[in-house]
Amino acid sequence: MERNEFIKSLGLGMALVCAGSCLSACGSKSNDPAPSPPGGGGGGGTTGATASIDLATQLTTVGSFVATGGVLFIRLAAGNSTSSFVATQAACPHQGGALNWIQASNLIQCSLHASQYTSGGAILRQPNDGGTTNALKVYNTSISGNILTATIV
Ligand code: FES
Repeated sequence: MERNEFIKSLGLGMALVCAGSCLSACGSKSNDPAPSPPGGGGGGGTTGATASIDLATQLTTVGSFVATGGVLFIRLAAGNSTSSFVATQAACPHQGGALNWIQASNLIQCSLHASQYTSGGAILRQPNDGGTTNALKVYNTSISGNILTATIV
């Protein structure tokens, strides 16, 4: 019995010691200056990222399109100059539905709620679920050899 009481009192003492050290540690932390913000130049993680396709095997016909690397590439005209292509975000701004080029209607349409956009990214029709969408991001493109590259900004 006495031994148990001794152990209990020892345990209570240890608990008080731990609590005291924790409180003092917490107290000193509260006096620390606020964390400094990360150094400049952080910005968005995907800024400057690129997506590319090979024009030797992809987008060989006017009206064809392909989504890769978060970019929807569309061939609007013949020839391999940047003016023959457009590159937009591949996911619908509304809720992330896949976007497709509808050549017969000359527009981009979402597969989820049928919102529609021009090849320049402007909204032609809002989603059919009563929600609203935003204009598409349109990316700059460059061509090197047969490789068409979009730079995601
Ligand atoms: S996700 Fe595209 S319209 Fe809803």
